Amino acid sequence: MADRYQLPRGTFDVLPDESNARARIERSAGQLFARAGFERITTPAFEETALFERGVGRSTDIVQKEMFTFDDKGGRSITLRPEGTAPICRAYVEHGMKKLAQPVRLYYIGPFFRHERPQAGRYRQFNQIGAETIGTDSPMADAELIIMLDELFARLRISGVRLRLGSLGSLETRHGYRERLVAYLRRHKAQLSDDVRRRIDLNPLRAFDSDDPGTRRVMQNAPLLVDSLDSDDATHFGEVCSMLDEAGVRYDIDPTLVRGLDYYTRTVFSFVSAKLGAQSEIGGGGRYDGLIEQLGGGATPAAGWAIGVERVLLAMGRPVRLSRRLVVFVAVANDRDRRGAFRLAAQLRRTGITTQIDLGGRSLKGQFRHAERIGARFIFTLEESGEVSLRDRRSGESHQVDLTPFEEEPKELRKYLRDLSHSG
Ligand code: HAM
Repeated sequence: MADRYQLPRGTFDVLPDESNARARIERSAGQLFARAGFERITTPAFEETALFERGVGRSTDIVQKEMFTFDDKGGRSITLRPEGTAPICRAYVEHGMKKLAQPVRLYYIGPFFRHERPQAGRYRQFNQIGAETIGTDSPMADAELIIMLDELFARLRISGVRLRLGSLGSLETRHGYRERLVAYLRRHKAQLSDDVRRRIDLNPLRAFDSDDPGTRRVMQNAPLLVDSLDSDDATHFGEVCSMLDEAGVRYDIDPTLVRGLDYYTRTVFSFVSAKLGAQSEIGGGGRYDGLIEQLGGGATPAAGWAIGVERVLLAMGRPVRLSRRLVVFVAVANDRDRRGAFRLAAQLRRTGITTQIDLGGRSLKGQFRHAERIGARFIFTLEESGEVSLRDRRSGESHQVDLTPFEEEPKELRKYLRDLSHSG
């Protein structure tokens, strides 16, 4: 017997029913983006490896263990993109977008790749919708981004989402804080988990994320970054908070909020849902004022977020209602009329009506059964007599129709069917 193939680990097929739910999320996000002046950008699914090493940071889990990296045939190191912000900053610099009116507001939708241990809500190929506002350090940009995401969740009727908000300060503040934190962790080395101890120098902030009980106890008294913010950073953070207050967006200030990417400065945030279990973050982001400069551009402040589409689907927690599209079926009583049915179906499709015909040589009864299975509302039947009948499957009513007037005005046929469908 021939081998059967299966999905690669950590991946999934999106079947038609779920495609509808995804399309709805993308549509809602697209509308919000358009209203706030965000334009779509699409970058390649892979980039030069060094972009992520520099941008995301060598000490992060993403770069250390989760990237799909390989050499291409020319011996260049290539990585399937694990996230979208570094590629967008690369594009901003490469296309000289600093010459455009600032800030530049961009959004993206597409697949991302991380070699993580798969579980519910965590995949090796997943989809993100993301937004980036590049070229301003105004706290209004941070607030605008957060409010937009909050509104997206409301539109998708996702309830029970909590917003965690923090500030990491500037790179210098973080540097000074980091030294103090490393010293504190060293003093309590004996109580820390092996993993945290091993990475004290590489990534001390991750100690706040640890599940290990000993580490958690130590972290309760660890110095906090929010207490080290300089006055500019503190003012910036205060303004973000007050704009969220004004917009009625609720948040919890979380001084221990750290994110798995190194580029963040000042505001960081994370939307979490209890419905999601271990992988509770639906989306998150923050400000990354140093990234573009680090990637070879001029000093350019920026902020953004990304949501995981699969996690949004989980948080929605119910199948999205399928759009109730009007479907028409064209049946034939006599095989010799199949070309006529084909022509009528093509005509209906041109007017924008979803139309199906039988491709399998079914009997008339078989065609009716098929029309029912695909959820057709109306059935045109080319009868033996040469006449055409139209049956409304909902009301069960059937009548003869003369299609000749519609040949001149095909749009009228669409209107005719729409009117019938509303009256029934
Ligand atoms: P991130 O937190 O790494 O941020 O990812 C954003 C979202 O992608 C997460 O909140 C989660 O919903 C989803 N996600 C991440 N990994 C997986 C996975 N393995 N399976 C399923 N979903 C996943 C970023 O990527 C930043 N680029 C966000 C950003 C934009 N910051 C500023 N601008």
